[in-house]
Amino acid sequence: MNKLGMKFMLSAAFYGLIAMSVGVYMAATSDYLFKAAHGHLNLLGWVTMSIFGIVYFVLPDLASTKLAKLHFYCAHVAVLFLSGGMAIFVLFGSTNVAKVGAVFAISSMLLFLYGLIKYGSTKTSFSQSSAIDSKQPISE
Ligand code: HEM
Repeated sequence: MNKLGMKFMLSAAFYGLIAMSVGVYMAATSDYLFKAAHGHLNLLGWVTMSIFGIVYFVLPDLASTKLAKLHFYCAHVAVLFLSGGMAIFVLFGSTNVAKVGAVFAISSMLLFLYGLIKYGSTKTSFSQSSAIDSKQPISE
């Protein structure tokens, strides 16, 4: 696996572990105060980061760009600020941190979309630089 794909996957597993631990805590104590933080950490941290990692694994040319590296940092800020912001909201009533997280979450997805469009316009066929071996026949 290329380096960036692996970094995304490791981050995803880390966030997933934290999020699930919060879930276990909520289930054990019947205290659901942090369910929004838990939900966002799972979906943005575990699920979304995993999808990014898999895409960068399949498209190593895209993973080697500066844009993809910027996307990685932007995605982290989004996870930390949006999930943390949810916890801050229930504790202190302020939505400011979550708002910053939302801006980074949108920016992260925009960078990803832009990278995909740019990648798609420079490649004539998906198999040209995909990690999937184009010589292998696709079994029906
Ligand atoms: C160890 C694994 C997990 C445990 C023990 C757990 C536990 C919980 C609990 C106790 C709640 C609160 C339910 C309520 O308000 O009645 C909750 C909410 C939620 N969980 Fe998890 N969860 C786990 C994994 C996940 C995963 C993997 C995802 C998503 C990928 C997820 C997404 C959500 C979402 C979106 C909510 C909010 C639901 C709502 O607001 O109604 N959880 N979870």
